[in-house]
Amino acid sequence: MEEEKDRIVAKSLKAEDIESEATLRPKWIDEYIGQKKAKQKLNIFIQAAKGRSESLDHVLLFGPPGLGKTTLANIIANEMGVNIRITSGPAIERPGDLASILTNLSEGDVLFIDEIHRINRTVEEILYPAMEDFALDIIIGKGPSARSVRLDLSKFTLIGATTRAGLLTSPLRDRFGVMLNLELYDILSLKKIIIRSSRILNIEIEEEGALEIARRARGTPRIANRLLKRVRDYAEVAADGIITFEVAKEGLKILEIDELGLDSIDRRILTTLIQNFNGGPVGVDTIAAATGEERITIEDVYEPYLLQIGFLNRTPRGRIVSKKAYEHLNIPYIEE
Ligand code: ADE
Repeated sequence: MEEEKDRIVAKSLKAEDIESEATLRPKWIDEYIGQKKAKQKLNIFIQAAKGRSESLDHVLLFGPPGLGKTTLANIIANEMGVNIRITSGPAIERPGDLASILTNLSEGDVLFIDEIHRINRTVEEILYPAMEDFALDIIIGKGPSARSVRLDLSKFTLIGATTRAGLLTSPLRDRFGVMLNLELYDILSLKKIIIRSSRILNIEIEEEGALEIARRARGTPRIANRLLKRVRDYAEVAADGIITFEVAKEGLKILEIDELGLDSIDRRILTTLIQNFNGGPVGVDTIAAATGEERITIEDVYEPYLLQIGFLNRTPRGRIVSKKAYEHLNIPYIEE
């Protein structure tokens, strides 16, 4: 079975992305394309904090993988003119690990915790006083002589990233002053990102070629940049290196990405729902069991795009496959 991480449309970070994400990543908010609402809010909060010479309030970034949460965290630190320390929920194993990170932050610094919903309970409890009072409560000694000592921390900004705000416990969620919801990108924003990346990577591309890649990038810049590089390979070998509409189309066909960016796993999810459950409504746990994917992967990786393009509808009784999806898959749709 094809694994999520092996898909060219996988949203998770692949080894080959790491280097290029560093060069392609915008450093300033003005270079950051799309996410208009999030950018607007952020601009105001950054200007206000700078105007008062204060550190920025804690920020929670949430949305599907690959939309630029780490990029935004770096931009925030840059715009505020402070250092950033990057870690992730699963990497902080013990309370002491977090305590040592926190005590090493300077005034105003940004601490970015990716996948913050995966932080463990004992570590999370250290975060509460740290976020609220910039203090660390440590226990000294053992047994009856143990006492708690409060240690002051520098005023820092915590930026947490997660796929859905609902995955956080409410005490943690409530301690973020700024909540920024990142949404899947529209095709025109993705096209701009592809043209910007082409310029940085010295790739010759025509507008129509960029548009074709954008259409199939599932609303996700990380996928758009990955497809761009694969299509460039094709253009260099099979054409004269220029990504035209035709070259993009042929290159993407070889990658088995269809006109809407769906790959074999998306198609398997949809056909399973149609063939085994008559198109739904089906609960997400049943979809997970029937397709052999994890529930959280279905919810965070596959569903957002299938919902965005209107192939799935979410109802209180479960997910329903739309008529549009039947047509795309060439399966006859029988009206009830
Ligand atoms: N590369 C990845 N995401 C981007 C964005 N939102 N703007 C510009 N370049 C990007």
